[in-house]
Amino acid sequence: MALKILNEQMLHGGDYNPDQWLDRPDVLQKDIEYMKQTRVNAVSLGIFAWSALEPEEGRYELDWMQKIIDSLYQNGIYTVLATPSGARPVWMGVNHPEVLRVGPDLVRNSMGVRHNHCYTSPYYRQKVWDIDKLLSQRFGQHPGVILWHISNEYSGACYCPLCIAEFRRWLKKKYGTIQRLNAAWWTAFWSHTYNDFEEIDPPLDRGEHYINGLTLDWKRFVSDRTHDFMAWEKQAIRAGGSTVPVTTNFMGFYRGLNYFQFKDVTDIVSWDNYPLWHTPEGNEPMAIDVSMTHDYMRSILDKPFLMMESSPGPTNWQPVCNQKRPGVLEMTSLHAVAHGSNSVQYFQWRASRGCHEKFHASVVGHDGTNQTRMFHEVEQVGKRLAGLSRICHTSVRARTAIIFDRENFWALDGIAGNLNPEEGKSGADARHYYDLVKDNYAAFWHMGIGVDIVDSVTDLSKYSLVIAPMLYLERPGVVENLRRFTENGGTLVGTYLSGISDENDLCFECFGPNGLQDVFGLESRELDCLYPSQHNFTEYAGRRYELSDMCDVVKVSTAEVMAVYGSDYYQGYPVLTRHPFGKGCAYYLSSRPEPQFFFDFYNTLADKIGLSRALGHASIPAGVSATVRENEEEAFLFVINYNETAAEITPEKPLRNLETGETETVITLPPYAVKIFECDVR
Ligand code: GAL
Repeated sequence: MALKILNEQMLHGGDYNPDQWLDRPDVLQKDIEYMKQTRVNAVSLGIFAWSALEPEEGRYELDWMQKIIDSLYQNGIYTVLATPSGARPVWMGVNHPEVLRVGPDLVRNSMGVRHNHCYTSPYYRQKVWDIDKLLSQRFGQHPGVILWHISNEYSGACYCPLCIAEFRRWLKKKYGTIQRLNAAWWTAFWSHTYNDFEEIDPPLDRGEHYINGLTLDWKRFVSDRTHDFMAWEKQAIRAGGSTVPVTTNFMGFYRGLNYFQFKDVTDIVSWDNYPLWHTPEGNEPMAIDVSMTHDYMRSILDKPFLMMESSPGPTNWQPVCNQKRPGVLEMTSLHAVAHGSNSVQYFQWRASRGCHEKFHASVVGHDGTNQTRMFHEVEQVGKRLAGLSRICHTSVRARTAIIFDRENFWALDGIAGNLNPEEGKSGADARHYYDLVKDNYAAFWHMGIGVDIVDSVTDLSKYSLVIAPMLYLERPGVVENLRRFTENGGTLVGTYLSGISDENDLCFECFGPNGLQDVFGLESRELDCLYPSQHNFTEYAGRRYELSDMCDVVKVSTAEVMAVYGSDYYQGYPVLTRHPFGKGCAYYLSSRPEPQFFFDFYNTLADKIGLSRALGHASIPAGVSATVRENEEEAFLFVINYNETAAEITPEKPLRNLETGETETVITLPPYAVKIFECDVR
């Protein structure tokens, strides 16, 4: 039943904290009235409600929650029920300090804030198990409960003795013997050979942090621990008898966890989206960022996801807490839907009167009325979402994938060398890993071509084009994955700084890209790094493009050279090559060209491969996107104008507007407008 509801209606609602208002029946009653007015049909309940649920150790009070869930349900509002593990009650932190985190300085935190809990502490695990199971027993069969919201934005790490012991056990399981670990981490360097697993500490502020293998394994361990904790919470829910699907709210490109690892414990992916609109650069760069993040989140399970949080107005934590201009809430909400979200949820329904988030936007503010602009705009979003149920059955069906791999990111983040120092940036950011992925992505965004963002071990067989930017670290199976894909007819695009290290960040004993030299028909011989102000250049298809960051000097064996460096000692060496391999073809890009290159290159390639575009070859103005959600039977085209000025598109053929029923020969888009059309299934 819960699944049916999730599949058949767009959810509209947000984080609801009635536990802060239990002595105010008038407020709780108003909440219901206003929720109905804004067509809210699902709220996330109890996310940080542990003190209200267990005010003293072992004394549970669940009746208030029962009343709330019942009352919501009677009024047509479903509950997304949270487990409260994201923050613990004071009595627990004070009486059982082992639940509190220890930092990389080896100092234990005091009771306070949230996400301040150890994932290993047996006591914390037991308490979480008990309360999750209890919630499941009591509410898990309630017809109003449609989804479990496990914890909240899992993040961070703990360095307490229990976690360190667990890390050593994890390493022992992975390597078996200390000799194997020493070999994998190359510990003879600086004389850091370990004699026993008990000697190993995580990377610490005042300790070891130059063994790349150690740093990488610690990050994997933290991700594993968190995954294990989520699995534990899910198990507790199942032990309590509830079969309702589970989710946990992810944070997009959050760097601390490998979200692809959570596939098996997550029934529906959800994430919290806080874009910053109205920056001096205009809205387009942010629109591209957020689109890519939606696509990344959707690609984890390759099905529609939920936007679990978004702000109806200014947040209280971003650098500039600006207002969303009129119409932007609707635009940013439907933007998520366009990329596969089946919900628009807000943080938060009602503003708290005190504490850290009291100035964070909310649907109902401190005035407690339904008279604000924000409230009316939420009302408008609710109205539109109510008419979009048909879209729930569709998703983005991309034939292009760009690989963004979290383990690769971690490795790039930890190495020294191959850097382009830029003020304020270090690690993977200074190497511009994300930026390179985004440059590639942006080209497709501008063309209206759907893209999945996948990790390097994802099955690639359904794609026609796979782009693997800066794939420095080759996880086991990656070489085979890329070879198979290309051999079977796929088009692969690789770049500089690829195929250099194995899963332990040990360099391969060959010219790179390891295992793929014959796929690309070349070998990488030297890598030059440029200062941010330095550039090389190339000419391709009659145009000149600047090159930045890194210049890979490659030696071609069988590849065809399509563009070469224009200056420096490697002038004339390849910048772009093409090489047929099996039934497919592999391109290699030796440097980082300016964004226009990606657009021009992929524009030609897309036609060659036959990738379909949301608006065919109609020209899409700057700051406007076109995406398609579809299934076997029907397809919906979303056209979004992120600009503060109007835009216009002349489609190749007239399109029927899904919401007005009218046929449009010219699509006129007022500022921030989102239009949805019926279109042909691809
Ligand atoms: C999220 C968090 C919410 C709230 C929100 C404020 O990261 O999950 O609980 O703090 O930020 O924007």
